[in-house]
Amino acid sequence: MSEFDKVQTAVEFLRHRSGLRPRIAVVLGSGLGAFADQIANRQVVPYPEIPHFPRSTVQGHSGNLVLGEVGKVPVAVMQGRVHYYEGYSMQEVTFPTKVLARLGIRRLIFTNAAGGINKRFKPGRLMIIEDHLNLQSTNPLLGPNEDRFGLRFFDMSEAYDPRMRKVASAAARKLTLSVHRGIYAGLTGPSYETPAEIRMLRTLGADAVGMSTVPEVIVANHMGVKCLGISCITNMAAGVIKQKVNHEEVMLMGERVKGDFIRLLRAIIPRLEELDSQDQ
Ligand code: HPA
Repeated sequence: MSEFDKVQTAVEFLRHRSGLRPRIAVVLGSGLGAFADQIANRQVVPYPEIPHFPRSTVQGHSGNLVLGEVGKVPVAVMQGRVHYYEGYSMQEVTFPTKVLARLGIRRLIFTNAAGGINKRFKPGRLMIIEDHLNLQSTNPLLGPNEDRFGLRFFDMSEAYDPRMRKVASAAARKLTLSVHRGIYAGLTGPSYETPAEIRMLRTLGADAVGMSTVPEVIVANHMGVKCLGISCITNMAAGVIKQKVNHEEVMLMGERVKGDFIRLLRAIIPRLEELDSQDQ
């Protein structure tokens, strides 16, 4: 079966499962699953039930597509994602993004955990992603182009939609949440970086480093879906301060910041809906 047909099969399945037709979706990173639990009129679809959907294996990623409403706005929320470092192919990593795009999603919010490279950054703050560096040594769109998804060669100069970033900044201001803004470097992991690598990334212009989001954002842009990315700076990256990086610390900080993150998402979503009505 072609990739296109697999995507369509998943889309048809979801259309039968729910009458909800969301135009906004959220992809939740590690430890943010609680956001999905607060959604009104929820319909939970476990990933294994969705045809061709990859299953997530990492702790803290439970693996459900949750359809429902945030402040009356219909949304699709991915509770858990799969990563390249788990051994999935780039096709598998980006399959859910393709399904969301074909389902009618026009705006996608990606959340993740990241290490802070910028010395002015503080662990526990959120960062609105302005742009990214694809340092995963590959691209999810290598191979024949699927013209029904998008163009062979396409623009990435506003990969993170400026209007969505503005909305996120304004929502943070209103909540009196201090947020950073910066460049996200996407690496494969699963090892955290060496101090030398972090110095290299800083020289390249990166403010934060993580192991996700970049492939999905590339595919979303290919399919004309506008993207917003928000990182939780869970720790300072290797060598920035005299402290080793460990997964437990990352998860713990994610847990501490979860409340802010969820409040911000809940504030952003209705404003994105307004952006769309301005467009019409
Ligand atoms: N490096 C890479 N990915 C991460 C980090 C880090 O320091 N923290 C959270 N995700």
